[in-house]
Amino acid sequence: MHIPVLPKEVLRGLSPKSNENFIDGTFHLGGHSELILKEIKPEGKILGIEIDEDIFKEAKEKFKGNDKVILVNDSYVNLEKIVEQNDFKNISGILLDVGMSSWHIDESKRGFTFQKDEPLNMLFQKEGLTAEEIVNTYSKEELERIFKDYGEEKKYRKIAEAILKTRKEKPIKTTFELISVLAQSRQSLPRIFQALRIEANGELDNLRKTLPQALKILKSGGRLAVISFHSGEDRIVKQFIKENKESLEILNKKPIVPELGEIRQNSRARSAKLRIIIKK
Ligand SMILES: C[S@@+](CC[C@H](N)C(=O)[O-])C[C@H]1O[C@@H](n2cnc3c(N)ncnc32)[C@H](O)[C@@H]1O
Repeated sequence: MHIPVLPKEVLRGLSPKSNENFIDGTFHLGGHSELILKEIKPEGKILGIEIDEDIFKEAKEKFKGNDKVILVNDSYVNLEKIVEQNDFKNISGILLDVGMSSWHIDESKRGFTFQKDEPLNMLFQKEGLTAEEIVNTYSKEELERIFKDYGEEKKYRKIAEAILKTRKEKPIKTTFELISVLAQSRQSLPRIFQALRIEANGELDNLRKTLPQALKILKSGGRLAVISFHSGEDRIVKQFIKENKESLEILNKKPIVPELGEIRQNSRARSAKLRIIIKK
């Protein structure tokens, strides 16, 4: 089960009120959206965007018959276009809770986990370069770059080298095959898996391209909340804030992080950082 991260803090930050419209750019099964929906009754609407077709279908089923929830199976990187196509106006707030959900790890069978043997896919959508293709076709320098930048892995050189050596003999096709390459550096596993997932889904690029669109479509006084789980993502948000100082205000100078109690109940919250921006 996926538990929404920083629920109280997101609500306080976005401050939803009766009859306001919100966008949930990373809808999943609407964990955060359900909390917002309670506050925007009776006429407020949510436009939910979910890239993963399997999750989207489940979300559609869950919110069937709810005319206050509009669901779109697309990437938030197409935010402006999606808003236009759905004629969604008067937007008081946008939430981006980026990355994968617990469902991806526990149930997708697409190789997001290093605890089970699954094909190395790691894609949210059907198209795209899979983690398997990345591992078996990227040059040593490219692999080093993603392990260093997206995984923040110190042994990036050694790991890239080990991958190149192994794949010369036989392609690396599953999570366990990749793990056996990393046998000497087991503590690097989460960072290497994270790097491959971020690269496969173009996650940092997507976030970079989406923030300006979000600011543009918000009404004046509208709020954008971004929850990130990786310093590369948080850096993009900080940079965006710096570059757009004259069009926005920040609610909190430092990012909001979960309380210890939340981390104890939801380990996924451990690295979460929330930033709230208000459009001038
Ligand atoms: C961390 S989960 C969101 C959980 C949700 N806020 C909740 O509490 O229930 C992120 C979700 O965003 C989706 N996602 C990832 N990248 C996306 C993108 N570029 N566009 C739309 N959805 C995306 C994932 O498939 C996943 O379901």
